[in-house]
Amino acid sequence: MRVGRRDVMKASALLAASAWAPVAIARDTRDHGVRIRDLLSRMTLSEKIGQMNQIAGGRQKALNSRLDAAMLDRVRRGEMGSFLHVAGAEPLRRLQKIAVEESRLGIPLLFAMDVIHGYRTTLPVPLALAAGWDPAMMERAAALMAEEAWAAGLHWTFTPMVDVARDPRWGRVVEGAGEDAYLGSRMAEAQVRGLEGPVRRAREPLARGRVLSCSKHFVGYGAVAGGRDYDSADVSERTLHEVYLPPFHAAMRAGSGSFMTAFNDVAGVPMTANEALVRGKLRERWGYQGLVVSDWNAIPELISHGVAATPAEAAALALHAGVDMDMASSTYADHLATAVAADASLVPLIDQAVMRILMTKARLGLFDDPYRFGDAAREKAPLARGTARELATRSIVLLRNEGAVLPLKPTARIALIGALADDASSELGSWRARGQAEDAVTLRRALPQAVYDPGTDPAAAARVAANADVVLLVIGEDYDMTGEARSRSDIGLPGDQQALTEAVRGAGKPIVAIVMGGRPLALEHALTGIPAVLQTWFLGIEGGPAIADVLMGKVSPAGRLPIAMPRTTGQVPMTYAHVPTGRPANPDLAVDSARYHDTDIGPVFAFGHGLSYTRFGYAPLTIEPRGDATVIGVVVSNDGAVAGDEVVQLYIRDPVASVARPVAELRGFKRVTLAPGERRTVRFTLAHAQLALWKAGAWMIEAGTIEVMVGSSSADIRQRGRFTVGAGQGSDPAASIATRVEVA
Ligand code: GLC
Repeated sequence: MRVGRRDVMKASALLAASAWAPVAIARDTRDHGVRIRDLLSRMTLSEKIGQMNQIAGGRQKALNSRLDAAMLDRVRRGEMGSFLHVAGAEPLRRLQKIAVEESRLGIPLLFAMDVIHGYRTTLPVPLALAAGWDPAMMERAAALMAEEAWAAGLHWTFTPMVDVARDPRWGRVVEGAGEDAYLGSRMAEAQVRGLEGPVRRAREPLARGRVLSCSKHFVGYGAVAGGRDYDSADVSERTLHEVYLPPFHAAMRAGSGSFMTAFNDVAGVPMTANEALVRGKLRERWGYQGLVVSDWNAIPELISHGVAATPAEAAALALHAGVDMDMASSTYADHLATAVAADASLVPLIDQAVMRILMTKARLGLFDDPYRFGDAAREKAPLARGTARELATRSIVLLRNEGAVLPLKPTARIALIGALADDASSELGSWRARGQAEDAVTLRRALPQAVYDPGTDPAAAARVAANADVVLLVIGEDYDMTGEARSRSDIGLPGDQQALTEAVRGAGKPIVAIVMGGRPLALEHALTGIPAVLQTWFLGIEGGPAIADVLMGKVSPAGRLPIAMPRTTGQVPMTYAHVPTGRPANPDLAVDSARYHDTDIGPVFAFGHGLSYTRFGYAPLTIEPRGDATVIGVVVSNDGAVAGDEVVQLYIRDPVASVARPVAELRGFKRVTLAPGERRTVRFTLAHAQLALWKAGAWMIEAGTIEVMVGSSSADIRQRGRFTVGAGQGSDPAASIATRVEVA
């Protein structure tokens, strides 16, 4: 579609037609739809396009800084529907008042921010929370951040990020729940529940303390080529449906009120203009009626993608695809009317988009009470340190503990080495909203009895190590090495930490490596000869005390890897859920097989791996058919001397199917607390729809044998069994369906 000067003249005429006259919104209609259709009928094209316009009211580090007089006049003219990078109960109340009382139609604004893992109380980064393998914990985290964001007057957070990621070179792996579609689906729905509360009846507004969630980035963002942020995602239809779409379906079913389209293209079609996947799959096939917002500036970037020649064409493509709101680019605001002048068929699409935006505002209760979000007193409440510390301890993964180096003896002389041990800012990770580094308690502060050395001089550090009984070596990445636009071509130990590690190892004392970072690093070489390893991610404001609790044995670690740790960078992307190939990887190098010749097979620490200070036993499985489901039971016992949590994991495999199937797929898990000697029965009710594969546009359950594997990780299977299933058809993405788990 080409837009000429005549069209521009026509467009400005359309825009000018808006007569300015104060009109009260009918507040007495009970049914949102009636009220919104009435409102829509009275809106000019300019006012409609204004609702589709989201502007940055500041910057991440300078919130509200752009709310100047000119911006407020634009609010009065009804030229925008939402602001992001704004916050504060009082400033947002004043801003809302201008929209509601000084614009012609008084439509309330939406205020949004990236509250990803904490608003003021910074919690562990999402990948760390996912390592807790506990949806209830993820929900608690989301509920806490929702309440703090709500108190600050925010309506909307761009969370959860539900992109499955199997290439840790991609910096945004820190924001998600790792490599698996099933785990990702459970964490997606938990975050939506925590943010929005339980799924509500049609007219029930969001409860106080809850905010609108935004499931992102739809879809395939974690599959970018080479792990390079913003790159192309060339995934097969089956992989898209079986791996990358399921967490979005789970988030939708949990009631997520908005979605965000991804920057990337999928097989050459940019998601911001992907009518087949947004309007076709998400809206028409799945029936999603929530608001869809673009990512930052993504609409005009359709020109860079090479699928639009002008901003007006980009605007038309995004509108056709089903993108309701334009984040930060003003392309809808500045060019959609021009596109309409050239193609009047866009007007119904605009009406649909505006309906969804206004319905979203109605469902937040903003038409009934535009000031129901925000509580200046609650905004000043103390940080939730107790919750932050508990969530942090539950996110720590004990990767290795040879010779039971951990927990430390209370009398041990400790050397604490490494700059990250005293890096408060890195504890907060990326996307820290209003989190403050001075609120973070580092490991150094949490272990005052330790002799600390920053590790800048390896020789000096080695001397400190030599005078200790045990060395805590803190290595890894700082907060700015993961997050958006932080892809890395080498995910080994950064900087000169390898030299430090070798110098400290030379001191000959037992070492506990404490790995910090927002991605799994390739540390096989670095960790050689190190008997104990903790993966501690970025744990938030109570990270230091949480690590100390685990080191000193106050808490028995139980976290599990939500994404495998590779041996070398060259191995990625990798996943445990791979197909076997015709020549499955063989340990014998003389056999030609699907493996590298210069590194061992598989990761150094597997998906689902994590140790405890106790040990657990698994009795043989019971397998009972139950209609269109099968119940798999297992008795788990704590065979050690201290209490601990076990994360019981259920994997399935379809050994013979019409297409090659993964050697294992997670289809259930349960974190269970067991006292010494205690035994609990865990029962997984596996619906056969969870076994379906995507084929010929449908979820097909193929008749045959299904193998089940139950254990402590994808690489530590303790019990196996099998059952048969009849042919059938599912309706939802198999991995998105939650397995019912009972513990007796
Ligand atoms: C960023 C991110 C997105 C975020 C948005 C607003 O570019 O891709 O995740 O929510 O812009 O900050």
